[in-house]
Parts: sequence; structure tokens; C-alpha cells
Amino acid sequence: MRVFQRLEQLYAIGGGPGANRPHPSPAEDEAHELVAGWMREAGLEVEVDPHGNLLGRAAERHDVWVGSHLDTVPQGGRFDGALGVVAGLEAVRDAGCGSVVAFRGEEVGCVGSRALVGRGEALPSAFLELHVEQGPVLEQTGAPLGVVTGIVGYARGELVFHGQAGHAGTTPMAGREDALVAAAAAVLRIRDAAAAIESAVATVGELTVEPGAGNVIPGRVRLSVDARAPDSTRLHELVGAIGLEPGHWTEPAAMSEEPRRTLRDEIERRGVPVVELPSGAGHDAGILAAAGVPSGMLFVRSLNGGVSHSPDELSSEEDVALAVEVLTASLRRLASTTSS
Ligand code: GLV
Ligand code: MN
Ligand code: MN
Repeated sequence: MRVFQRLEQLYAIGGGPGANRPHPSPAEDEAHELVAGWMREAGLEVEVDPHGNLLGRAAERHDVWVGSHLDTVPQGGRFDGALGVVAGLEAVRDAGCGSVVAFRGEEVGCVGSRALVGRGEALPSAFLELHVEQGPVLEQTGAPLGVVTGIVGYARGELVFHGQAGHAGTTPMAGREDALVAAAAAVLRIRDAAAAIESAVATVGELTVEPGAGNVIPGRVRLSVDARAPDSTRLHELVGAIGLEPGHWTEPAAMSEEPRRTLRDEIERRGVPVVELPSGAGHDAGILAAAGVPSGMLFVRSLNGGVSHSPDELSSEEDVALAVEVLTASLRRLASTTSS
């Protein structure tokens, strides 16, 4: 299937293991160039906006957009982001309307979509994002597709711990000021703070230890915090409990009624069970929805227990083919009802 062949081509770009197209990087640029070529081949009008977002238009700029992002986390999977762009291109080509967009830098705070809505002009009349679920719900439910109800809110920032660097052999245990020991306690506190709030999660994914030698007591430690909750109240509560001053904040976003209804209808018409679920991952659709663009998301079942942000990320060709069909039909319907 062409979608899977193209996902492999994108996967090969940054070198393994896994997908490596961080934002910004030559690998992300190369992915955008490759996709721009596919857009031209499909007869679309190609535009790159001042932030590097790529748009392939079959229609006017204000029409319905479908798409996602081409950047990845380090050692990511084949599907996250790339599927929504590659499948979106199929949908625009098949429907003969709308535009397909590849946003920049989704993994680092949706910088491309945020910049687009910040400019405030030339926003689409509606937006649909096809994405892998990145979780186990659809696999456990036995459903190939899901319609997203809303997207989690998230706060990101860092905590820094200062201690006293010193000799690992000659400094007695009593009286040490080991910054990593303090940071380790904080990691556990962060875990407990999230566990105490329903549906909240928090992750420490990066740790910088200085000076960073095996025989030196850590003098300074920096750790990253990613905190998430399905509503603003719980997100504030979590961030307060962690004591985080976030450098990045994205409010939770509900998906819009008309795109949701359209996706549900198109799934139902195909005799497929309709499952609705929230997204624990951030997405460009959340940024567009918050800016007032009617936005919807279609999830494709993730296999392998729903693992994502990992090279083991997997969906089946059959599920993806069904998703492309639903996306194409939904795009057609929205383009005929929402165009300005
Ligand atoms: C984006 O993938 C996120 O971190 O939710
Ligand atoms: Mn993604
Ligand atoms: Mn991701």
C-alpha cells in the first residue's frame, strides 16, 4: 500500500534506530521536501508559510485542511504524525478538495500550528487530523477507529537542584549535599502527585547531572517535567503540587461538534462500531480548535499494546485503509458544508 511505502521512506530519513526527525533539523527539512514532491505529483498547489509549515492545496486556502506533523521524538515510530500527513495527502487527492498540511515541530510544543494561529490569518474552515491512537484503548475494545472527544492539557518545564560537588571517595556520607539525591526524591514526589489526581500523568524524561563524572558528587541537576491532565483545574492542581513554573503551557481542548459528528457518521455508515475517546497526547488539532477552527481527530488502532514514541509503534494496513476512507468521506462532507 502506497501509504505504508511512504511511511517507510520517511522513516529512513534520519537514520535509525527508530524515526529521528526532531524539530528543527535537516531530517525534518528533508521530510518536508519529500512530501512537497508527493504533493506536486498529486497535482496540488504547494505553499510553505513563514514558519515552514507545508500546505498542499486542491482548493482555496480557507477550505478544510487535513494533516498532522512530520517531526518526531528521538527514536520514534513510523506512524506518529507522518501517518496523518501521508494519509491526508491520499484523502485530498481522492476527494479532490481541501488541503493537506504538514506542521512543523509538533513534538516540541506544536510550534508550527501555534505560529499559524498566532498570525491569525488564512485559517482553514475546518481541520481534521488522522493519527495513531498511541494507546491501548482501541486494541482492547476491538475497534479499528476512534473519534477523539478532547485533547489533554499539558505543562512542561524544569526543576533545578543545587548541591555541593565533591570527591566521591573522601567525602563522608553524613553532610553531603548531593544534588542528584534531592532530584531523585523529587522524581518520586512528581510521580505521587500525578497518581493522586484522577487521569493526571507526569513524567521526568530528561536528567542533566553536573559535573557528570562517576567519581564526583553531583553538584547540579536539572530535570524535565511533563505534566498532563484532561481539564484545566486538574492541570493547575498538578502543576501546583509539583511546584513547577512551566515554560510551556497548552490548555486542554475539546474537539468540535460538527467534525466529530461527521467522523462518527462516516464510521457508522461502514458498519464499524463508533468508539469515542480522549487523547492523552498533544496534537496540532488542539491548537487549531483552541483558535476557533472547527477541528476533529480520527484515531487508528495502535497495535503492540498501543506503544508509541518508540520504533515498536504499529498499525495494520487494513485499519489504515479504512481510516483513509473515513477521512476522505469526512473531508468531502465538511468541505461542502463549512467552506467560507
Ligand atoms: C506529543 O506527541 C506529545 O508529547 O503528546
Ligand atoms: Mn503526533
Ligand atoms: Mn508524538
